[in-house]
Amino acid sequence: VKFLFGSQTGNAAEICKEMAAEAPAKGFPNVHCNAMNEVDVKDVLKPGAVVVYVVSSTGDGDAPDNCDSFFTKLKRVAKKEAGVCGAGVQYAVLGLGDQNYSAFMAVPRSFTAAMEKAGAKAFYPRGEADETLGLYEYCEKWQDGLWEPLRTASERAPALAKDPTGGVAKDSTGGVAKDPTGGVAPAAPAPVPAPVPAAAADAAEADLVGPYLAKVAKSELMTDPKSDRRVLHVEFDTRGARGLDFEPGDSLGVLPQNDPALVDALAARLGLDPNAVFELGWAEGQAPSGPTSAPPLRHIRCPASVGAALTHAVDVTAPPRKSLLRVLAEACTDAGERRDLLTLCSRGGRDEYKVRCGDECPTLLDLLESHPSCAPGWAELLDALQPLQPRMYSITSAPEAHGGVPAVAFSVVEFSTPLGAIRRGVATNWLDRRASDQTFRVPLYVKKSTHFAPPTDVSHPVIMIGPGTGVAPFRGFLERRRAMIAAADAASPPPGPAWLFFGCRRRDEDYLYRGDLESFAADGTLTELVTAFSRESSTTKTYVQHRIAERAAEVAAIVAAPEARVYVCGDGANMAKDVHGALVDALAVHVDGMDEKRASEMLMAMTKEGRYVRDIW
Ligand SMILES: Cc1cc2nc3c(=O)[nH]c(=O)nc-3n(C[C@H](O)[C@H](O)[C@H](O)COP(=O)(O)OP(=O)(O)OC[C@H]3O[C@@H](n4cnc5c(N)ncnc54)[C@H](O)[C@@H]3O)c2cc1C
Ligand SMILES: Cc1cc2nc3c(=O)[nH]c(=O)nc-3n(C[C@H](O)[C@H](O)[C@H](O)COP(=O)(O)O)c2cc1C
Repeated sequence: VKFLFGSQTGNAAEICKEMAAEAPAKGFPNVHCNAMNEVDVKDVLKPGAVVVYVVSSTGDGDAPDNCDSFFTKLKRVAKKEAGVCGAGVQYAVLGLGDQNYSAFMAVPRSFTAAMEKAGAKAFYPRGEADETLGLYEYCEKWQDGLWEPLRTASERAPALAKDPTGGVAKDSTGGVAKDPTGGVAPAAPAPVPAPVPAAAADAAEADLVGPYLAKVAKSELMTDPKSDRRVLHVEFDTRGARGLDFEPGDSLGVLPQNDPALVDALAARLGLDPNAVFELGWAEGQAPSGPTSAPPLRHIRCPASVGAALTHAVDVTAPPRKSLLRVLAEACTDAGERRDLLTLCSRGGRDEYKVRCGDECPTLLDLLESHPSCAPGWAELLDALQPLQPRMYSITSAPEAHGGVPAVAFSVVEFSTPLGAIRRGVATNWLDRRASDQTFRVPLYVKKSTHFAPPTDVSHPVIMIGPGTGVAPFRGFLERRRAMIAAADAASPPPGPAWLFFGCRRRDEDYLYRGDLESFAADGTLTELVTAFSRESSTTKTYVQHRIAERAAEVAAIVAAPEARVYVCGDGANMAKDVHGALVDALAVHVDGMDEKRASEMLMAMTKEGRYVRDIW
């Protein structure tokens, strides 16, 4: 049985590895677990193969980086050899997603469709685990229901290997296997709201592999020193760089580094010389089968030094995953410490895990220090740690402005846990610490946006909603709009309405790009600049959604106009949900013949047409 995952931030990888780890105890001794890009599609589409996919969506319905090329190839092969190339293959898909994203479950649904097109048969209904409803609880249920259908599928596999046309997978009672979560029947995959362009995914992989080392051209604190948050505007010198062309709406992917003090302390605690160099190889029997020779843990470029791996390649600060806790537990010589870690990763320890790991976010070093007998092997530890992910930042400039250099705006992440520990975000603190250092170089690449792009016609009405750093891409949108208006001639249609809703705490503390926004409003690039300052009143907190409600009639008229576009950008799925609610209310009340249901349907239709686009992180 192959367990394959496609995972951007590690959830699908974690869940898939958990399943593969449980499989031997359930009677499946011979399992492989890999990121999809580590295996060849041809090896998966072999008659008799039994495959379990766990896959999420990222971006705007995009495939995660570690499954994008596999997915592209799967779709290509399925199209070319429809009904044939997947004959005799049995599969199940567990999808991870978040219903706040307009392209909800885009990739798991496309995966199912591609496997069906290839002629493969689902032996267990697709699961759809929604972050907003509780990811892990759902996945545990789906996993509990998996084993019986998997057993039946495995029993059928030898016959299918001989005769790939052997029919639909049935459970041991002769019926189609049931999913205890009431999962989605694979035979009728739900429509995918947004296309997943293969080319963009391929390009991201190529850029990610060979990032450009950019000098910081300018770094500026945008918030007032008395504000309790720091937001920086940083421009990168990318003159002469290739492959860094960008458009408004694109993002910069930044490959961050862990704090050197933490890296040194970790190496010391592990008893390792940071300069020691190592290589990695597959453990016996774990190498992917077939002609591929993918190295294990591709995020660690070997030969590497211990210090380099801890600095660049692995995540040592994110809340620890249960699979990591299990590896650390196995490495404890003290029975009490071992038990403590095993409790944390058991199902019964879910509440304790939430408090001690989810809320307290201990680093790897914290865990090792609180469990002094823990002495994990280096290879086991690297295998258990998640790759250090690139961080995305919306480009806040148009290429025709500011000499063509990309700029970003980010808030420096620092928060205290319920027990008072101070935690700092990896990338933003690294950039903040180093930005003024002349020798500092930032490995970065451009991640093309698939849907988040300004209108190509300035006569189309547009509403932009970007509180906090969510305003970043709209500065680029508006620079583009200003240039287009300036280039228009007498025959061009007049510019349509362009509204921006911006929100922050106080106008004199964290009103980002105030000068730029006010100048867009002054010269007519923006027809309306609406601000919400949440902490200026001692009695009420006003956010962008409240301003939308106050201007509901005008907002509804713009949104309902033909060719209108609505963009929402920023930090926090709750903001996106509240803004969505305010838009639905505005349309329901102020557009003739509308009610809440019709307003929701209208926004859904606009999403499908790429006219209501949300970029939420
Ligand atoms: C397409 C896209 C565009 C983006 N654009 C921007 C942008 O323009 N500007 C910008 O600032 N960011 C942007 N982001 C977010 C950015 O990529 C990073 O996630 C962010 O900067 C944090 O990175 P970090 O490495 O500093 O923090 P990390 O080390 O990744 O830590 C962040 C984590 O800390 C935890 N955390 C943070 N605050 C708290 C808290 N108060 N309480 C509890 N836990 C907390 C959360 O789990 C959070 O995921 C974007 C993300 C995407 C996907
Ligand atoms: C930047 C970003 C974009 C996302 N885009 C989508 C999306 O388009 N559709 C969806 O259903 N879920 C989306 N999600 C939700 C993720 O799929 C969900 O959080 C999942 O648990 C992540 O799994 P992973 O860690 O394996 O990547 C997005 C999450 C983030 C952080």
